[in-house]
Amino acid sequence: MSTAFRPPAADGTAPAAAAAAAAAHARHTLAANHRTGTDHGLGYDFTCPSPDSYPFQWAWDSCYHAIALSRVDPARAAAEIDSLLHGLTPDGFLPHMLLWQRDLRARATEDFRIALWDGWTSITVAPPVLARAIERVYEEGGDRTWLASVLPRAEAFFDWLDRRRALPNGLPAIHQPDESGLDSSSKYDAALGIADAPAAEVADRWHQAMRELLRHYQPSRSPDSVPTGPGAFHWVDVLFGTVYADGLAALSRLRAALDPADPAADVHARRAARVTNALVAECWDEEAGAFWDIDLRSGEPQKVLTVSSLFPILLDGVPDRLAQRVIDEHLLNPERFWLTYPVPSVSADEPTFDPHFETGAIFRGSSWVNLNWYLYGGLRARGRHEAARELAHRTLRMAALSGMRECYDPHTGAGQGATSFGWSSLVLDLMAAEGMAADGTAGEERA
Ligand code: GLC
Repeated sequence: MSTAFRPPAADGTAPAAAAAAAAAHARHTLAANHRTGTDHGLGYDFTCPSPDSYPFQWAWDSCYHAIALSRVDPARAAAEIDSLLHGLTPDGFLPHMLLWQRDLRARATEDFRIALWDGWTSITVAPPVLARAIERVYEEGGDRTWLASVLPRAEAFFDWLDRRRALPNGLPAIHQPDESGLDSSSKYDAALGIADAPAAEVADRWHQAMRELLRHYQPSRSPDSVPTGPGAFHWVDVLFGTVYADGLAALSRLRAALDPADPAADVHARRAARVTNALVAECWDEEAGAFWDIDLRSGEPQKVLTVSSLFPILLDGVPDRLAQRVIDEHLLNPERFWLTYPVPSVSADEPTFDPHFETGAIFRGSSWVNLNWYLYGGLRARGRHEAARELAHRTLRMAALSGMRECYDPHTGAGQGATSFGWSSLVLDLMAAEGMAADGTAGEERA
């Protein structure tokens, strides 16, 4: 789609200069957010998402941090994953949050609206980016002993998701909007009863709805309980399901890397295929050319066009015809997702699209580096290298312009949300994938 490729953004930054500036911001943030210490008799060594806003260890954040760190400090990347895996329970549950620092815990339950499990972790999960993070760290360091130590624990978490969260068709369900990591995405508004909220009230109404949900869940809740009743949230999330299927495929490759004859590799691959097939069968809408989440209480698809609807392009098992439609009709469409600083978390033609962060609520239109990182891989997997490169360059320009922020205005590239934000350092991995050296100059041409 030739119209999709406009010249460099208005700030006019040359690619090499933008990349060098983005990389400098990323390295600085990874250093500033490094946290080490001891608690529960365990040593921790992780990168907090943001010193002011998010001081603890968050699961999918840590996985992205490890991916970025693999490019600059492989030993620290491995330590980040080791720290995260300290949160794994004997049953295989891996919490979204590990509140290592005792002195900061009291504030957390209110600030983050979380119910604690065992006094120091969240009771919720996050999208399982873990397998991809382990794969990246292993690719860089090649440490088979480390891989053999972490892989069974990653598998335990994926098994837990299969036992505790998978529907009969294999798709995983989430029990709170924030288990997808996309907390206040407008795709959840109707289910939370806040679809009528004016922009200025969205953030307050969302927090209120979350408090009600937690109150509803409170009695006897454990990581294993399946919430029921009219107030429960029970949802098939396309982004979560895609990250899960993609992770299963990574587990399969990693098992085979340790032992090509290990039958566990096939088990993971079959599970990945089953989840992918269910995503296509249950979530694909031929007319819209997009994948929809499903509210399991009503069984109805939620037809709000968000970045989730694009995610399955990265799964091998999704037929190419479907993926190319998603790419051409939505991702590279300048009326929807292909804005100056893509990829907005909500399509620009949705009434809830909030590019300037006027609601003060996240994932309602801002662009996010972690989502771009996945979609970059999806574009490449579909042979759309030119678009992938353009997405990487625009992401680098956005990070060069505003530094490591939680998210960015898709029209102007202005930073939004938390500052010194960890996972935006994924620009380091995008640069390496594009064959750029750390100073932004072109390195080796990629295959
Ligand atoms: C917000 C995001 C979540 C992330 C956390 C820490 O709660 O919604 O995805 O893990 O911040 O960055």
